[in-house]
Amino acid sequence: MNLENTDPEIYSLMEKEILRQQETINLIASENYVSRSVLEATASVLTNKYSEGYPQQRYYQGNEIVDATEIIAIERAKKLFGAEHANVQPYSGSPANAAVYMAFLNPGDTFIGFDLSCGGHLTHGHPVNFSGKTYRAVNYSVDKTTEKIDMDEVRRLALEHGPKMIISGLTAYPRQIDFSAFQKIADEIGAIHFADISHISGLIIGSVHPSPFPFCDVAMTTTHKTLRGPRGAIILCQKKYAKQIDRAVFPGSQGGPHDHITAAKAVALKEALSPDFKRYAETILANAKALADELTGRKIKLVTGGTDNHMVLINLLPLGIGLGRPAAVALENAGIVTNANTVPFDPSTPFKPSGIRIGTPAVTTRGMRDSEMAKIGRWIAAIVTDQNNLKLQAGIKDEVGQLCREFPITKYIFPPGRPSA
Ligand SMILES: Cc1ncc(COP(=O)(O)O)c(C=O)c1O
Repeated sequence: MNLENTDPEIYSLMEKEILRQQETINLIASENYVSRSVLEATASVLTNKYSEGYPQQRYYQGNEIVDATEIIAIERAKKLFGAEHANVQPYSGSPANAAVYMAFLNPGDTFIGFDLSCGGHLTHGHPVNFSGKTYRAVNYSVDKTTEKIDMDEVRRLALEHGPKMIISGLTAYPRQIDFSAFQKIADEIGAIHFADISHISGLIIGSVHPSPFPFCDVAMTTTHKTLRGPRGAIILCQKKYAKQIDRAVFPGSQGGPHDHITAAKAVALKEALSPDFKRYAETILANAKALADELTGRKIKLVTGGTDNHMVLINLLPLGIGLGRPAAVALENAGIVTNANTVPFDPSTPFKPSGIRIGTPAVTTRGMRDSEMAKIGRWIAAIVTDQNNLKLQAGIKDEVGQLCREFPITKYIFPPGRPSA
């Protein structure tokens, strides 16, 4: 019996999702299409196993295969990033960050992270998140004029607050992170430097973004963004912190690892070790630049004026306050999937932000290049400047459908899905 017969309700929703993914242009900066091999590992019998502990030190029997799988994932992660130690068990980025904080901080300790409204992540100390509730979080932001991270402010806050940890990393920031500048500040005050490279790990692997290795103390990456693996995360650190990181993951904050996901991480890491992956990372960047150029050429305002990573942040404030969400809805009506996002010093609220975040990892995987970016940029510019024009949205939706048919996603589907549309 397969899913189609046992649970037609869920099966038909999954078919609809295949269609949605096929017929829309995915510009969510944190999403991607994994390979069929990664999907196969994700859907494997390893999901049946319990394996609390670490290789050769498990609390359950029957872990010979799981041990071998996890060791392969660990070795590939270390090689890929040039790290001394890797923990491949974190369920996702947020629990991985919780484990890193647990390893280095006590409740009430101070750390410094990037402000959510300027490009940081919720787990970098936002007051509604565990990170802001458990620890004393101090946030750095960006320079008001350049909209780039103000390293003088980071240093000033570090000297003033004496944090135990400084976080470098981004969620919605279109420029490179100067990891060595963060390291210098951390060294100056004797703080741990934690690089959250979730968004940019694929770019680091492809050598199109500076790496925080080998100098940072600890780093974390989700595996499902530019790295193009299953949903999950990996923590990398110097050998001297290996024990405290491992203990913070298990038993500190997690139970049994998701062994099918560990296998899928190993598969994705092997793919990332191939020379093709470097070309992939280069193309992500070229596509983001092409998209940014098209938009600025059409008088669309971009945060920092452009990009040097995989994402572009559109600032809609020249058109009005809080227009991010209606613009994202208008774009989705035309088959272009994005997310509304705050812009630096947004006068509106995070729920009604004034910008849109777009990114090129998924469209690059799909095979799209400069000429497609020019088309997409033209469509986005037309829609966001005329958000209530339903006729325009319907017309562009037809063109989007045509483009999507030229770049089918069927090769990424397991089991081979029905070629849709
Ligand atoms: C920089 C950064 N850290 C952590 C996370 C959290 O990852 P997850 O959504 O897997 O919990 C994200 C996710 O967007 C992120 O961008």
